[in-house]
Amino acid sequence: MLLVLKPNSEELGREAARVVANAVRRNPALRLGLATGSTMLGMFRELVRLHREEKLDFSRVVTFNLDEYLGLPSNHPQSFHHFMRQNFLAHVNVSPHNTHIPDGSIKGDYQRYCASYERSIRDAGGIDLQILGIGRNGHIGFNEPTSSLGSRTRLKVLSKETIEDNRKFFAAEEDIPQCAITMGIGTILEAKRILLLANGSSKAAAISKAIEGPLTASVTASALQLHGDVTFIVDQEAGAQLKQQEYYQRVLEMTAVLTPERL
Ligand code: F6R
Repeated sequence: MLLVLKPNSEELGREAARVVANAVRRNPALRLGLATGSTMLGMFRELVRLHREEKLDFSRVVTFNLDEYLGLPSNHPQSFHHFMRQNFLAHVNVSPHNTHIPDGSIKGDYQRYCASYERSIRDAGGIDLQILGIGRNGHIGFNEPTSSLGSRTRLKVLSKETIEDNRKFFAAEEDIPQCAITMGIGTILEAKRILLLANGSSKAAAISKAIEGPLTASVTASALQLHGDVTFIVDQEAGAQLKQQEYYQRVLEMTAVLTPERL
């Protein structure tokens, strides 16, 4: 595990974009797992800038988004389809054939749909680099507390905290989604490399539990402790409750000397 501490969310976004851009330059056909949400905005902004100003080429990159709200059509302004178009996909040269986002408008045989999403990841050869945010309750994707640590893509009922966090985005109470389709923890853990981003004081408790707490389904991000190649990039506020900050800094310095390619 590597922890990179950044002074603010702007620098966090730039650092995350640097990691993604390096991965794309090394492997132009990168299979990239993506998240949505406010934490991702700085990273997407910087990736769009790198595409425009430094010709970062996404033409062969294949993307898989983690999740989508159930019941929202792709043109709904709060859908993750809309978020991705608005903040990233419409501004870079990712081929529409290479983008995958769970379909929130499906009805009926959810299990079959979710199995087909898993199959599309497998058929593409698996995810090389998965980007994650984290919820206040420690969720990754929409794997809410008590999710099975071996779970696969499936329908998930959203927790009260998540619904509360979403309230401000929806005009009417009955419009707030209650469920989502999300990659499972087991799906996420199969990515070759994982990058989790967190900013702001509201994430400080979740970050400290995910990194320094016990492995528990009550904080599903703690499952990342089982993964062999995870980097957390957090700003000062989100890292404020970590007890071992000095150690993480030494690990980073030694990594820069011994295995700089990991950075
Ligand atoms: C969204 C996702 C979620 C978010 C998390 C943080 O695709 O997977 O886990 O990353 O809820 O959201 P923000 O960044 O809005 O605080």
